[in-house]
Amino acid sequence: MIKLSPSILSADLSKLGEDVISLEKFGADMIHIDVMDGSFVPNISFGMPIIKAIRETSKLVFDVHLMIEEPSRYIEDFAKAGADIITVHYESDVHLDRTIKYIKSFGKMAGVAINPSTPISVLECIIKEVDMILVMSVNPGFGGQSFIDYTLNKIHQIKELSEKYNPSLMIEVDGGINSNNIKKVVDCGANVIVAGSSVFKNKEIEKNIKTLKEGF
Ligand code: DX5
Ligand code: ZN
Repeated sequence: MIKLSPSILSADLSKLGEDVISLEKFGADMIHIDVMDGSFVPNISFGMPIIKAIRETSKLVFDVHLMIEEPSRYIEDFAKAGADIITVHYESDVHLDRTIKYIKSFGKMAGVAINPSTPISVLECIIKEVDMILVMSVNPGFGGQSFIDYTLNKIHQIKELSEKYNPSLMIEVDGGINSNNIKKVVDCGANVIVAGSSVFKNKEIEKNIKTLKEGF
């Protein structure tokens, strides 16, 4: 079962609540929420108050992608704001095992994200402990970038590791996914697909979700 997790980074932020309601109505499986601090990545997006506000509008799984330095400082806040999955970057946290346990202590699912240039080998010890691995297929920080092709091999490698160590692992891929490349990503083993600009393109959410889902 492949899940679609639209990124609200590309939503119309002047009517974010309405866009979240549309996503749920038109078949999104999760809501991907990109939190950026202007330090780990060169951009600033939104944080806990926005998550809390849209939590009122949707029952979907909130898939919160933290692109922030030392994410452990804010896990409790994001848990209380309504996150269901909290994903931290391998590159931003030197005590990853502790942070994973901390996320789980709030009853939340825990994910680890890796940048395009980070090899899969760094995940070997942690893969059994997490609910999700997020493979970045663009350099984090912005929507609308082009998919980096060499990450396909990394998805494939994660799939192999998950079969061995964690068969229920969610393998999420994020960045530059559209109707032309979504099949390749799924064929490599991804089971959660993030899409921002390709979901909100021309404000045709219903049509775009349908097209992406037909591409699986
Ligand atoms: C990038 C974010 C992505 C982004 C995806 O740093 O993590 O979730 O919103 O946007 P698209 O699908 O437009 O590449
Ligand atoms: Zn993301």
